[in-house]
Amino acid sequence: MTIRSARIILASAAALAGLVLCFSLVLLASGRLSAPSAPQTAAIGGPFRLTDQNGGTVTEQNLKGAPFLVFFGFTHCPEVCPTTLFELSEILRKLGPDGKRVRVVFITIDPERDTPAALKDYLSSFDPRMLALTGDPAEIAALAKAYRVYYKKVPLEQDYTMDHTAIVYLMDKEGRFVSPFSLKRTTEAAAADLRRYL
Ligand code: NI
Repeated sequence: MTIRSARIILASAAALAGLVLCFSLVLLASGRLSAPSAPQTAAIGGPFRLTDQNGGTVTEQNLKGAPFLVFFGFTHCPEVCPTTLFELSEILRKLGPDGKRVRVVFITIDPERDTPAALKDYLSSFDPRMLALTGDPAEIAALAKAYRVYYKKVPLEQDYTMDHTAIVYLMDKEGRFVSPFSLKRTTEAAAADLRRYL
């Protein structure tokens, strides 16, 4: 092979690689080259079978017909969970009679300590219309994953605490994910936002 023909081959190969790269970028930009198994729209949430604070069984079917807010946390949480539940209680109160048509669901990521009785006791500090759910640790782990909620046990000197995602999710009447629900606004604004999904 002459040096000249080797150069031509190299140049052609480079040009071809460039073309392939450009084409891939166009495909990526148009969203066609994403992982084959990944859904095109963000799927958040999913079916479950858990136990509420009164010992009753609750599934995603029981939540259909009303929009709901879901929040994963635990009763031993020092600050974020109680603050969030307090704010959600205020929003329900602000909704007045419409508050009966919205569900607020608190799902524990610490089922080891959060029994139905512990949840019931905890909820007595907040709006009584809230639903608190616990259940099988594996079921909760699967559901947290479906909601893209991260949590992890963090050992302390005597016992432990939980590190966790503190996002409130707004789900519509059909149980489909709408958006994260912001609490960084007035109670009035949050209540007005919720009313749109009734
Ligand atoms: Ni918390």
